[in-house]
Amino acid sequence: MSEISKAFTRGNWGTRVGFILAATGSAIGLGNIWKFPYITGVYGGGAFVLVYLFCVLLIGLPLMIGELMIGRRTQKNPVGAFKALHHKKSIWQITGWLGIASGFLILSYYSVVAGWAIAYIFKAAAGFSGSTEAIQSQFGALVTSPQSSIMWHTIFMGLTIAIVVGGVKNGIERWSKILMPMLFTLLLGLMIYGLAFTDGGMQALSFLFSPDFSKLTAEGVLSALGHAFFTLSLGMGAMLTYGSYMKKETNLMKDAITVSFLDTLIALMAGVAIFSMVFNYDLEIAAGPGLIFKTLPVLFAQTGRWISIPFFVLLSFAALTSAISLL
Ligand code: PFF
Repeated sequence: MSEISKAFTRGNWGTRVGFILAATGSAIGLGNIWKFPYITGVYGGGAFVLVYLFCVLLIGLPLMIGELMIGRRTQKNPVGAFKALHHKKSIWQITGWLGIASGFLILSYYSVVAGWAIAYIFKAAAGFSGSTEAIQSQFGALVTSPQSSIMWHTIFMGLTIAIVVGGVKNGIERWSKILMPMLFTLLLGLMIYGLAFTDGGMQALSFLFSPDFSKLTAEGVLSALGHAFFTLSLGMGAMLTYGSYMKKETNLMKDAITVSFLDTLIALMAGVAIFSMVFNYDLEIAAGPGLIFKTLPVLFAQTGRWISIPFFVLLSFAALTSAISLL
């Protein structure tokens, strides 16, 4: 093959593990560590978690298999895939365009929240101290400053672009292989700390896993369903595109089950870690989007940098591997 035609050949994942790590990297992100705990807090805990688990299993997983299948079969991007499956003028290509538009819109705010996560690595390194109000007001100061938000967003997007430019095998796959196992280990450590060394562990388990259906609202059910899509990176063409780099002989079903399982596991681990601390320090459960940025630093002021720095590094890593897939 000539050098030119090689340059235009579609890349493939180097190994099966490489694909699983990259797809898991896409699935696991701010959705698991930032959004899942805060919406679980807002919608009342156990019953919401149960509905979410049903949505992942009954809707998310089959949809992921479908997206990967379309990608692998056509070896094309979301728009091209629907044209290839039907015909050139197929109305189905709108589905692909909608996916691309959604990915663009999601990345536009995702990168801002991810920028906050990077900013908080530096805040953590400087140390959280002072009164609860003083610590919590740092979040307001960050999000209401356009200069800071734009700067951190730009740094985050710069990192994302640099990795994507590296290509499928050398960029996305290589980084995912390093970042994902680190993320898992850090989160496991935080969860064990929460369960074994704080008094909030048991309360966190009962909040997350003993459903009280009187707290479940229609809005909660809808939010659980929406979150199942978001957390598994579905409906945006991201999984379709990752499927397009798969080799024909891979066992797609097994891979989709592995990715969904790991994504759910990480969300639940993050939930246990965060709520153990929330209950231990009597912090606000339904703090909303500020949960990890406003509430946890109050705890970090007491536990010190050895927990706070890894936490925000981990959050930024998770956001990066998801943003890579969105881009
Ligand atoms: N699944 C990612 C998360 O939970 O943070 C977010 C995401 C990534 C959504 C990629 C959609 C997507 F295409």
